[in-house]
Amino acid sequence: MDNRPIGVFDSGLGGLTALRELQRILPGEDLVYFGDTGRVPYGTKSRETILRYARQDVAFLRTFDPKAIVVACGTVSANALTELTAENPLPIFGVVSPAARAAVESSPSKRVGLIGTSASIRSGAYEREMAALDPAVTVTARACPLFVPLVENGRFRPGDRVAELVVEEYLTPVKAAGVDALVLGCTHYPLLTDAIAAFMGPSVRLIDTGAACAAHAAKVLGENGLLAERERGSCRFYVSDSTQDFSHLASLFLGETVEGTVERADVGTC
Ligand code: DGL
Repeated sequence: MDNRPIGVFDSGLGGLTALRELQRILPGEDLVYFGDTGRVPYGTKSRETILRYARQDVAFLRTFDPKAIVVACGTVSANALTELTAENPLPIFGVVSPAARAAVESSPSKRVGLIGTSASIRSGAYEREMAALDPAVTVTARACPLFVPLVENGRFRPGDRVAELVVEEYLTPVKAAGVDALVLGCTHYPLLTDAIAAFMGPSVRLIDTGAACAAHAAKVLGENGLLAERERGSCRFYVSDSTQDFSHLASLFLGETVEGTVERADVGTC
């Protein structure tokens, strides 16, 4: 048993899709969420910058003495997980490996689609994980740089014509490749599920990376006797930009009213 909190971070609000899953699977855990809203997006940045930001994010979360950290960001997971794991003496869970496994397991045709930020796709991390699990899998990958700004601006509701147009533009070659599973390789993308599912059709299974990571983290913590012993945990939120719009936007991401304190944190010096 370990009652210390679990730290969760993302470049912005997308990681709340993973936090929502953690809350659902492990309601007794205390969670500390950091969204680097002052520096989002990470997905357009170089690997060096992503690594520097990620180290600062982890250093900030470690001030809460967490028992584990969930990297609820595809971009950081794809570009910096090796370093973060080597440099920190606590379990650090990324989204790439659990999502790659879920995709391989749910693709009978062995044709998998992958969408993510430019930095995630450039890293080749998802392809490497899937090839290690099953060398016969072919991956059709596409960077979707406009998805994050769409989502961060709340443009993801069903029927949003801009979102639908951008989905069609990005996903046409992925659909043409005949994939039967599609990895939503960025934690912002589950918000676009309706538009993506409508375009790809019912035979394509969508893999939510944050959910896959939350399930994996819960399993590993459970197996190692590291779960908290309480009925209901708390959640604290930190952002690096204004807290003003956070509650409203975060409620959209979480699908329910945000409960818990929201504070501003400057992690640039961590
Ligand atoms: N939510 C992040 C991810 O999963 C990235 C968005 C961004 O900062 O570009 O990749």
